[in-house]
Formats: sequence, structure tokens, C-alpha cells
Amino acid sequence: MAHYAVRESPPLRGEIPISTSKNAVLPIMCGALLTGEDVRIERVPELTDVKTLCALLASCGCSVKKEGDALVLNAGALQNPQDEEDVRKMRASVLVLGPLLSRLGEARIPLPGGCAIGQRPIDQHLKGFRMLGANVEQMGGRIKAKADVLTGTDVVFDCVSVGATINVMLAAAKAHGTTIIYNAAKEPHVVDLANFLNSMGARVKGAGTDVIRIFGRDYLHGANYTVIPDQIETGTLMIAAAATHGDVELTGCIPTHMEALSAKLLEMGARVTESDDTLRVRGTLCGYRGVNIKTQVYPGFPTDLQQPMSTLLTTAMGQSIVRETIFESRLKHLTEIGHMGAHVQFVDNATAIIEGVPELYGAPVTATDLRAGAALVIAGLMARGVTEIYEPEYIDRGYEHLEDKLCSLGAEIRREKFE
Ligand code: UD1
Repeated sequence: MAHYAVRESPPLRGEIPISTSKNAVLPIMCGALLTGEDVRIERVPELTDVKTLCALLASCGCSVKKEGDALVLNAGALQNPQDEEDVRKMRASVLVLGPLLSRLGEARIPLPGGCAIGQRPIDQHLKGFRMLGANVEQMGGRIKAKADVLTGTDVVFDCVSVGATINVMLAAAKAHGTTIIYNAAKEPHVVDLANFLNSMGARVKGAGTDVIRIFGRDYLHGANYTVIPDQIETGTLMIAAAATHGDVELTGCIPTHMEALSAKLLEMGARVTESDDTLRVRGTLCGYRGVNIKTQVYPGFPTDLQQPMSTLLTTAMGQSIVRETIFESRLKHLTEIGHMGAHVQFVDNATAIIEGVPELYGAPVTATDLRAGAALVIAGLMARGVTEIYEPEYIDRGYEHLEDKLCSLGAEIRREKFE
């Protein structure tokens, strides 16, 4: 067992490189199952979710080799997962369903686990498979999908789902004929997956809009691919820079992915400037203005940045209203930050009214999910004294060396082990 001890931070200063995207690399690793040839993914981030997915792919008969920070995957001997424990550990493991169904004609996995931020149904994934001609059963906590042949068709999603869009893209890449996904997710990692599939010889058009066309191909070949920078890591570090009144330059990022956040930070009074692949955030000591946040699908304000951002709002002047519209249970970190002196009134599970306080003070708090963990680290940087964060393992799932990166900018964070 371990916890983080985070001390009130001086203004963070310096330059920090952004890692490649967790939410892009996981579906791309699953996409490697669509070919029996080698797929090499460069600069894969060191994350527990990546390790868990490597173990799951290995149990699907995929060879997984690490070469420096690259991963070489070969799914020449693909099979359904033999060890199902890893599926239960991680929500993204559901993304093996599409490739298994496409390559083997049958996919069998238990229902996936993941962060406790809401119910997270997968009905839209299964609806997509059914539309492509699969027979899908969900019984006793297991999913079984079978199809002698997948046939391209129109798939109209009832809600915008990143995972369902990705899973159907994966299943349709080798289907017979053309699949058109309506109401598709537009997130940057959906576009990155499309680019990756196209680098394997697939024909995917329209990713980044809400209509994606996938012209099925019989054969996909191996590829060598570098994943996009992590939008959420970029945003989390931007917020950390502002929260400590610092001056931080983020390098190797994509500023256009950050527009919703940059606009809110500017509205609060921080300075954000950008070049082609860098973003500089300069905080202010004059106090931030409270702003309202409503999470939305891309290009709206990302739900994954709501938790770090609402943390910053706890010391902004005046009132801020935070509305979480994507996941029904993603404000638990604010209860924890309440123990650190924040004034938060919950209208319901998804809406909070924050009255800014002059300062937070350190207290023991517990991370309840990945982004909540990062939010508590930011709260710790802002708070007087020392904040102990329990269950920091959540953070390792999706942030590559977060504490090292923050410490290189001047933060003081220690990982303390206890029995
Ligand atoms: C992905 C991201 C996650 C991010 C989320 C929203 C990955 C690995 N994870 O998660 O970090 O927070 O997008 O940007 O990329 N829904 C249904 N039925 C479905 C699928 C989803 O009702 O079949 C609902 C969900 O309950 C949720 C909403 O749709 O309310 C969005 O979920 P979705 O976009 O699917 O999120 P994930 O792909 O799980």
C-alpha cells in the first residue's frame, strides 16, 4: 500500500514534455489484433492500463514485445482470452470485442471493470455489433458475440459514445461492404484510431465528424505508428500550472485539442499562449474568477478534465457551477476536497455549486478514480501544509510519472509506502 504526500507547492515553473495518449493507445493496441502481422507502436506511455491491456492481449495469443519505449504486437495466433482477470480490471478491455469478432467470428469476454464514475453500460457497442450481423448475448456477467460474416450497414447510435464508436470502427474495418456510423464520437483519439487503421490499409473516412464511413477491407497489414499526445495529461498539467500561479510550457502537445479548457482558463484570468505544438500557461496571483463548467462531448469541455478543473475552482473568487453531463457520478472528489476546506453544495449527483474560499488546507483524502486522483494532487499543490492522498494507484493507471513530472517543475510530492 502507498499514499502520496503532497506539500503546498511554489509556483510550478519550467518546460515539460507531454506523453502519448492513454485513450488513444489502448484502442490502437486492440486494433493491432486485426492483423496477423507485426504492429509497432512507438513511445508507448508507462501506465498500468497499458500493462493490463498487454497482459490481456497476451492471453488472447498476441505476442507482446517491448523494445525500449516501443511495443511490438503480433496477433498471428489470435484466440479468445484464456485468462479473464485482466478484462475485469479495465473498462477499455471491452475494445477487444470488435477485433475478436472480426478475426475469429466469435468473441467471449466477461463484462469489463473500470473506474467507478457511473453505470457505464455497453448497450451501444452491442447494438453496433448486432447491426453488423452478429448474434450477441449478454448473460450472467458475460458477453458472447458470434458472426460468420460481418456486413457493413448504417449504425445510428442513440447517444454519443467514444467506446462504442471505436468498437464498431474496429469491427467494421474488415467487414464486407460499407459501414456508416451516425452520431459518432469526435474525440481526438477516435481520429487517431482512424489514422492508425488507415496506416494498416483500412479505409476510414470522416473521423472527427459525427458521420464516419468505413469501407471494409479483406486484408489489413502490419504498421508502425506513433500515437497522438495525451489531451488529458496536457489539460491536467495546464490546470496544475494555473493552480500554483506558475509559468509552465507544455511541449509536444496539440493546442487545438485544448481549446475548451484554454478558453475557461482565460475566462478565469490565467494567460494561455500557444504555438504549433506547445502551450504556455501563466497563472496570476491576483485571484481567479469563478466560471461555470458543463461537460460535453468533444469539442466541448471534456469530462476527464472536469475533476481537475473543478478543483481549481474551489479557490476562485465568487460562485462556480459545475455540471457533469457525461457520467452520473463524477463529483466525488469534491466531497474529498470539502475535507480540505472547500465550500461545495451538491444540487444532485451531477451538479455542484462551488463558493470559492481563499485557501485549502492539507488533509487525508482518498482517490476514487483516475481523474479524481489527479484532481486531489492538484488540490494538494494548492493547499497549505501536507495532503495525504490514499489509493494513488488510480493515478498510475492513466498518468505517466505524474509525480516526477510535477516535481521536475518544482512540486514536492512523495510516494510513501506503508504496510
Ligand atoms: C471514454 C474514455 C474516458 C472518457 C469518456 C468520455 C477511453 C479509454 N476512455 O470512455 O476517459 O471519460 O470516453 O469522453 O477512451 N454510454 C451508454 N451506452 C454505451 C456506451 C456509453 O449509455 O454503450 C454512455 C455512458 O454511460 C456515458 C456516455 O455514454 O454516460 C459516454 O461514454 P463513452 O463515451 O462510451 O465513454 P468510454 O468510451 O467508456
